[in-house]
Amino acid sequence: MTESYETLLVERRERVAIITINRPEKRNALNIKTREEGAAVLEELSMDESVRVVIFTGAGDKAFIAGADIAEFQGRTAITQREVMLGRSLFTAIDNFPKPVIAMVNGYCLGGGCELALACDLRIASDTASFGQPEINLGIIPGGGGTQRLTRLIGEGKAMELILTGDIINAQTAYNVGLVNTVVPAADLEAKTMELANRIAEKSPIALRMAKEAVKLASRSNLDEGLRREVDLFALCFSSQDKDEGVSAFLEKRKPDFKGR
Ligand code: COA
Repeated sequence: MTESYETLLVERRERVAIITINRPEKRNALNIKTREEGAAVLEELSMDESVRVVIFTGAGDKAFIAGADIAEFQGRTAITQREVMLGRSLFTAIDNFPKPVIAMVNGYCLGGGCELALACDLRIASDTASFGQPEINLGIIPGGGGTQRLTRLIGEGKAMELILTGDIINAQTAYNVGLVNTVVPAADLEAKTMELANRIAEKSPIALRMAKEAVKLASRSNLDEGLRREVDLFALCFSSQDKDEGVSAFLEKRKPDFKGR
């Protein structure tokens, strides 16, 4: 099933939903409409129990997302830009989404595109993908979490280098610095990403949700608070039927069937 929006395609393949940014003629640049539609789709998918994993990708073979739509910057005042950024944020929606989100990076992953990928939980890149935060070349800085999420993910030295130079790096370098989880040949990108998504989709959605929340605490809290909240989230899993199913399945030497209850 494929649903069409003005700027997105949404496809469901069993337990996996694929959101494709569909502006290939503009290298899938994120305009206000894309951000609004993306946040709206995520809100819908968050409530849909049949969807266990979400994938973001870009239409065409050139770009994942080539950044914010630069044309929209023209003539925009500081106050309006601030309102746009503080409004309904697609990146925050991905961050807070209660299920795993994978960025399937099929080409240019720049500026706001890199920030979107950074907000995702996992990043798989084709060997033709490239990454960067080139905002500095426009006389601005990353404003969608780039300075914060990139720094937390790859460390201050490398993040500073990318942000100050605006340099574009290839997929292998992105892998070497820890920006992406895996690099695969372009022809295998979709199959490898679906394989990963389906593997995760078989786990307990409750445990996945707790795991995502717990891991994200690591960069948002001090160690004592993080360890304490990890115990709470761990214990919360004990209230689920999925925990009983997982433990029973192990002891009975069979595959668990997690229902998300
Ligand atoms: N915002 C708005 N439009 C964009 C865009 C962006 N971020 N990135 C690409 N486009 C548009 C181009 O303006 C062009 O539109 P046109 O056909 O109406 O002239 C179209 O997409 C194709 O772009 P083009 O530059 O011809 O494609 P390319 O394949 O040669 O190069 C990029 C691709 C991504 C390297 C290049 O488009 C680019 O540098 N984009 C800007 C990247 C950037 O600075 N992002 C950070 C924004 S904060």
